[in-house]
Amino acid sequence: MARASSVHVCSVCAHEEPRWHGRCPGCGEWNTLVEELRGRSAPRQGGGASAIKPIALADVSAPEVPRFETGIGELDRVLGGGIVPGSVVLLGGAPGIGKSTLTNMVLGNLAAAGRRTLYVSGEESTAQVALRAARLPGAALSVPAVAETDLETVVAILERELPEVCVIDSVQTLDARELISAAGSVGQVRHVAARIVGVAKRRRIAVLLVGHVTKDGALAGPRVLEHLVDCVLAFEGERERSYRTLRAIKNRFGSTNEAGVFEMRQGGLVEVLDASARFVKGATRAPGSVVLAAMEGSRPLLVEVQALVSPSDIVPPRRVVNGLDRNRLALVLAVLARHGGVALGGADVFVNVVGGVRVDEPGADLAVALALASASRGVALGPPGAPTPIAAFGELGLTGELRWVAHPERRIAEARRFGLDPVLAPRGTEATEVATLRAALETAFASPPRVARAAAA
Ligand code: TYD
Ligand code: MG
Repeated sequence: MARASSVHVCSVCAHEEPRWHGRCPGCGEWNTLVEELRGRSAPRQGGGASAIKPIALADVSAPEVPRFETGIGELDRVLGGGIVPGSVVLLGGAPGIGKSTLTNMVLGNLAAAGRRTLYVSGEESTAQVALRAARLPGAALSVPAVAETDLETVVAILERELPEVCVIDSVQTLDARELISAAGSVGQVRHVAARIVGVAKRRRIAVLLVGHVTKDGALAGPRVLEHLVDCVLAFEGERERSYRTLRAIKNRFGSTNEAGVFEMRQGGLVEVLDASARFVKGATRAPGSVVLAAMEGSRPLLVEVQALVSPSDIVPPRRVVNGLDRNRLALVLAVLARHGGVALGGADVFVNVVGGVRVDEPGADLAVALALASASRGVALGPPGAPTPIAAFGELGLTGELRWVAHPERRIAEARRFGLDPVLAPRGTEATEVATLRAALETAFASPPRVARAAAA
């Protein structure tokens, strides 16, 4: 067997170089060379092929395996009913969001249920891990832990300890010595993940692999690993605020429609079971505020969207957005200007989803547009003096029309549960239907006071 050696391969043209170059000598692209191992194993002879016969899929038996319930209902639901033995789950999130806290709590619960667990920390010493565990509820302190960054040592420990569930925190801190590039680089992270996945499958060790994601989502990590692992979970929210959402981006063993809401408290992460109630109760109803009937996976969630519009002294003016997609805001601003008569080209615009929740869905468009229009006019939305705020959802089309979005009935039912009225929604729904942005603006600003409507009825 040849000695292990590494090459740098261009991810665009597959050109190979023994050393790293900023610019690929093959195709001229920048920053495309990624380190890979070569000559590690002898090429397969292919002689085994005669023993392998294809089987009709109908004859393949796929026994239902019992899953490990983590004791954290929101996480189990997102996973599709718990952790599948031998599966590899990548948990991605920005630093400080609570990945170590969540995974430590999971292992604590599993350890308490009699499972063999192991926490491998490449970032923190065991003392630091223990300090965190001491703050957490349940049996977090009973989890066996090791602090190690050398990949091969970690693999050897896994092979020896054979935990049923283990946490590797994080994929970026493990170091494959055979590669020259630094731990955390694309080549390293890929190699580390592939090695861990190999051990997990061979030994049936379920692995929660923690991965850091930078704030703008551009990551030397999780994105390049998605195809390797069984499940990718994104843990999102604003670090400074207490709410976090957990959603599945990929799931070989369940749906990707589920999301869970958590709150970071003194004693760790707490599941938020009725998030809508909290957000509606806290809604300000001032100019620039509207309640969005959003979907978090298959569950409806009411959140307050706030906007602030102020004259700008810089060109181009500021566009600051929290909890929503920036490009979506640009689209809403353009549609507002063209089809809603609200031109904000000379103004700084701030849009915020209250509580640090992220709503990444086109269904948020109408609420964003209404909040912006309300902020720019300085007029609160909805009937004056009404006891509850109005709610809205729907996608804006480029011609100013309001488009249908998924699960209107669940969104409306959730808004009704809290007495929100009117609920502005696209056509074909059982709410106050509005066909266009213009119609929505008219309805939102011109709603007669509720007393008058009641008298008219
Ligand atoms: P951590 O899990 O270390 O984040 P990550 O692993 O994603 O980087 O925790 C993040 C923050 O949570 C940390 O700054 C302190 C805070 N925290 C609490 O507020 N309460 C707690 O019980 C714990 C353990 C942490
Ligand atoms: Mg951590």
